[in-house]
Amino acid sequence: MRNENSAFNHGAEPLLDLTALRADTPGCEAVIHFNNAGAGLMPRPVLGAMLDHLRLEATIGGYEASAARAAEVEDFHASLAELLGTRPGNIAFAASATHAYAKALSAIDFRPGDVILTTRNDFVSNQIAFLSLRRRHGVRIVHAPDLPDGGGVDVDAMAVLMRAHRPRLVAVTHVPTNSGLVQPVAEVGRHCRELDLLYLVDACQSVGQYPVDVDRIGCDLLTATCRKFLRGPRGSGFLYVSDRALAAGYEPLHIDMHGARWVAPGHYRPVATAARFEEWEFPYATVLGCAAAVRYALRVGLEPIARRTPALAGRLREQLAAVPGVRTLDGGPDPAALVTFAIEGWEAEPFKEALDARGINSALSYREFAQFDFADKEVSWCLRLSPHYYNTEDEVDTVAGAVAELAGSIR
Ligand SMILES: Cc1ncc(COP(=O)(O)O)c(C=O)c1O
Repeated sequence: MRNENSAFNHGAEPLLDLTALRADTPGCEAVIHFNNAGAGLMPRPVLGAMLDHLRLEATIGGYEASAARAAEVEDFHASLAELLGTRPGNIAFAASATHAYAKALSAIDFRPGDVILTTRNDFVSNQIAFLSLRRRHGVRIVHAPDLPDGGGVDVDAMAVLMRAHRPRLVAVTHVPTNSGLVQPVAEVGRHCRELDLLYLVDACQSVGQYPVDVDRIGCDLLTATCRKFLRGPRGSGFLYVSDRALAAGYEPLHIDMHGARWVAPGHYRPVATAARFEEWEFPYATVLGCAAAVRYALRVGLEPIARRTPALAGRLREQLAAVPGVRTLDGGPDPAALVTFAIEGWEAEPFKEALDARGINSALSYREFAQFDFADKEVSWCLRLSPHYYNTEDEVDTVAGAVAELAGSIR
């Protein structure tokens, strides 16, 4: 029988056991999955945790099943706390990264004229949420300028804006969905801590791809999903809330009986932990799948993952850059494993379908996902390829070859 632990990185061993990791990943047999920035392929332990729990629910009852698995459910918080360098009481489950983000925003008592300081590369749904807050509450949205040549946010300029505006919220997306840009979230965080500004980080594309430490970043709030580079199930996410933010009394607008106690007919009291951002009802099979995914990532090791994953993407980017008619679009000195490019002569959907037909999973990004970034790059769409550590160099070369072939057969 295969050793269940053989896939994992042991101590000083710098290399991942790709054979074992791929054997743990049923999807590897079916597709070349370069859409990990959409949803990573779940490994067997994640699938197993979820299926086992669904069976248990069907067998003994939903409430009884969650009670029987209380310790494993709690491991959702414990495992994420270990991953992020915090404590279980600072983690809240959410149905998605966007759900976590909306809950976080709802905790802020925005007043007309309050400033949200953000970047030109923040995630589309976050930008829409800021615009909605502007419409409803009259907040002002200030976008910090970028460095030249797509190098990401100019931290010095952002710090000047922090001092000038004293924003109610500073919000930065670590790695946007529409490119491999890695924003300097810890540098921004240092300024936020110095000025005592509330700091929200969207780490949806970085958690599971890099070590992400909330203290090092200096954020008050951090959101992500479990389905992307963490390889958890769909319909999951989480919110980190710092002790500072909890002590300051931040709580979501729509708090429920899980997040608060109804202590008197006219009074409720939020619970002390980040559970105040959760709801009473949990999708328990999903929560258990997430905990299994986080444990899996921790066992594989975030350092080896962070060495291998962006390097695979770098290999792909380099090959694509050499293809006539292809323009790679990822800025910054050390891009993440999101490889984006424009290709001459193709429309978006037919191009993706041509890759689908070759068994290669990819994703499209459109101008409406990235109004600033795509205007700067003068593209209306791009294709995104996002490998993960369990992908192989051979797969990278196959994908690059497929793009080269399609670029040479322009429709
Ligand atoms: C950077 C970033 N933030 C947030 C999200 C939203 O995540 P979810 O779909 O879980 O709400 C995404 C999804 O692609 C993303 O890439």
